[in-house]
Amino acid sequence: MRLHGCMTRIMIIVGSVRPGRVGLSVAEWVRDRIQETLHGDGSGGGDAASLDLVDLAELNLPFLDEPHHPVKKAYTKPHTVAWSERVSAADAVVLISPEYNHSYSPALKNALDFLYTEWAHKPVAVVSYGGASAGTRGAAALAPVLASVGLVKVAANPEINFIGTKMVDGVFQGDDKLAGTVAAMTRMLVETSEALKPLR
Ligand SMILES: Cc1cc2nc3c(=O)[nH]c(=O)nc-3n(C[C@H](O)[C@H](O)[C@H](O)COP(=O)(O)O)c2cc1C
Repeated sequence: MRLHGCMTRIMIIVGSVRPGRVGLSVAEWVRDRIQETLHGDGSGGGDAASLDLVDLAELNLPFLDEPHHPVKKAYTKPHTVAWSERVSAADAVVLISPEYNHSYSPALKNALDFLYTEWAHKPVAVVSYGGASAGTRGAAALAPVLASVGLVKVAANPEINFIGTKMVDGVFQGDDKLAGTVAAMTRMLVETSEALKPLR
């Protein structure tokens, strides 16, 4: 199934910010697979601007430093206003989620906590990775947080186990099976985004 001409704007958020992380390479691989699903062979039939890769290391948000609950949107800091505008522009979200001590990353929690209504009624998928458990304990811990801000989790959530064995010279090596799950995830994000549009 190809989704040519699709204008769903998908934001991909890299949840790991530490030096030596694998998360950015995982995110780039996932981004390329989403691109293929959205635009077929990538020969120009689609709109690359529909994908926004957010590297939280680059975004460099401080720990939540706003005095008011984000539901009020009474933001006092330029970095919050910029983050709000960027998330508002997205129709769907993909979280690239490492597992740290059986949970998800503090950088992801911080980035989520900064905003509130900007997340609402948007589909979300979690690409989790780790050791034997493929980061699924982290993804499970993340689920109630996503629900609390109104993100709607789709059914296809790619899981990558033994991540260290899938890196060659710092580059993540995904396989066809994983690519198939990312394609299913992409289709669900697009369909669910369309279904939720009247609520946004
Ligand atoms: C602080 C810390 C805690 C970790 N805890 C877990 C864990 O609970 N389960 C797991 O499967 N891997 C765990 N790992 C291993 C990570 O899966 C692995 O280091 C992975 O590369 C982390 O993603 P990143 O490189 O993008 O930060 C942990 C790694 C770190 C640095």
